[in-house]
Amino acid sequence: MVNDPAHWISGSWSAKKDGLAGRWRRARARGLVRSMRIAIDQVALGGLRLLFGFPPWHMSSPTSRRAYRRGVAMLANGLRPRCVVEVGCGLGSILSRVSAAERIGYDVDRAVLRAARLRHGRAVTFREGSFDDVEEPAIDVLIAVNWLHDFAPDQVAAWLRPLLPKTRHVLMDRVEPTSPLPYRHHHDFAFLDGLAVAARVERFDEEHRLFVLYEVL
Ligand SMILES: C[S@@+](CC[C@H](N)C(=O)[O-])C[C@H]1O[C@@H](n2cnc3c(N)ncnc32)[C@H](O)[C@@H]1O
Repeated sequence: MVNDPAHWISGSWSAKKDGLAGRWRRARARGLVRSMRIAIDQVALGGLRLLFGFPPWHMSSPTSRRAYRRGVAMLANGLRPRCVVEVGCGLGSILSRVSAAERIGYDVDRAVLRAARLRHGRAVTFREGSFDDVEEPAIDVLIAVNWLHDFAPDQVAAWLRPLLPKTRHVLMDRVEPTSPLPYRHHHDFAFLDGLAVAARVERFDEEHRLFVLYEVL
């Protein structure tokens, strides 16, 4: 279900709805150099997609277009972590920017993991799976961004709770209520009340979401 490309509306919805005029407006706002960089990165990722057959979102969303990945990596790096785990890591574009002795990415999509391994070699460990499969005994930062909006709060709570005792920080995103994009869930992570405190809340360019760094109590 989640790996059905039609389901992956995040970020590409507005492009489909407002057509060429919208694309042109956004390209002007980004400037020529950045727009060209995005186009080149999309072509390169398109080649990778031909090889591995992962869903189109990864091709259309290079980091040149979605700068939040750099911001998320910087937030994690600020904690000087030893072990960073990302669940729903996609092509590994966040983990590859993280500085830590151990970087482990989990994802349910085998095709995207194969492409991630080719991109990042052995520097990052990629494993098929999700929260329930996380086996690291002590995690400094647990990252899950840009996919939890597809899942109900109860599900997210059930995934996260068992991992909290061995985790120091959790970095997640919540879609802002004002977002023009039709996300399923916005999340307030209320289940973390009394278990963790929000240490940082950041908003990155062009994103209708807040990135929240929680410190586990
Ligand atoms: C929109 S991509 C975001 C990738 C990465 N977090 C980023 O921001 O670049 C969402 C990723 O989450 C993965 N995913 C979806 N549901 C998942 C689940 N239940 N457990 C683990 N990964 C999941 C998808 O396969 C996909 O690679």
